Amino acid sequence: MKMNYFEKLAMNNPVRALIQRHYEMPLLEKLGGPLDGLRVLEVGCGRGVGTELIKSRLRASHVIATDVDEDMLRHARRRLARLSPEQVELELADATALRFEEGAFDAVVDFAALHHIPDWQRAISEIRRVLKPGGRFYFQEVAAQWILRWPYRVLFEHPMDNRFSGRELVAELERQGVEVDGNWVERAGGDFIYGVGRRAQVTA
Ligand SMILES: C[S@@+](CC[C@H](N)C(=O)[O-])C[C@H]1O[C@@H](n2cnc3c(N)ncnc32)[C@H](O)[C@@H]1O
Repeated sequence: MKMNYFEKLAMNNPVRALIQRHYEMPLLEKLGGPLDGLRVLEVGCGRGVGTELIKSRLRASHVIATDVDEDMLRHARRRLARLSPEQVELELADATALRFEEGAFDAVVDFAALHHIPDWQRAISEIRRVLKPGGRFYFQEVAAQWILRWPYRVLFEHPMDNRFSGRELVAELERQGVEVDGNWVERAGGDFIYGVGRRAQVTA
């Protein structure tokens, strides 16, 4: 589900970028390490602040950044214009139906997209599928308890059914073969969720 006008105001501003740059990405890097020279998919890239950080801070070699909202991709294209297509590609794509082959990526990054997706379990299944065995899934998410609070319920537009807590998100990842093994944390009393899991290795 695309962001509405008010959420775009809240997300497309320098405060959100500062939080992503100085708090969220360092925390994800601490949990999952850098991605030097690796091929990365980003789901729900929004205006591309996370994409920039996946390149500059995690040092991925190639990022395909995707979103369902052409308007957000237009912002991201402007932001990332100085990067070549060998470094970053932007693409309209729904995280529940990815065109990529099984095992196409060393890592997938989700900055706050899953909680916007009605069938987020289906998105996890796609993320797991496109990861190589052992590939990493970096996630920063927003829990049901935050979405259901009245100011956000009134101002923003999120799917309301079938949302998740940190525990429920991690349980679903593990059920689908993305091993988190305790490598996740909650912040703001459980409103925000940060973690890194790995697609299980294939066993003989
Ligand atoms: C809360 S915003 C986060 C944007 C950006 N990652 C950030 O952290 O600033 C959620 C993003 O997910 C995108 N989105 C929603 N549903 C999606 C889907 N099914 N597949 C891919 N992206 C989706 C929205 O268009 C929006 O840009």
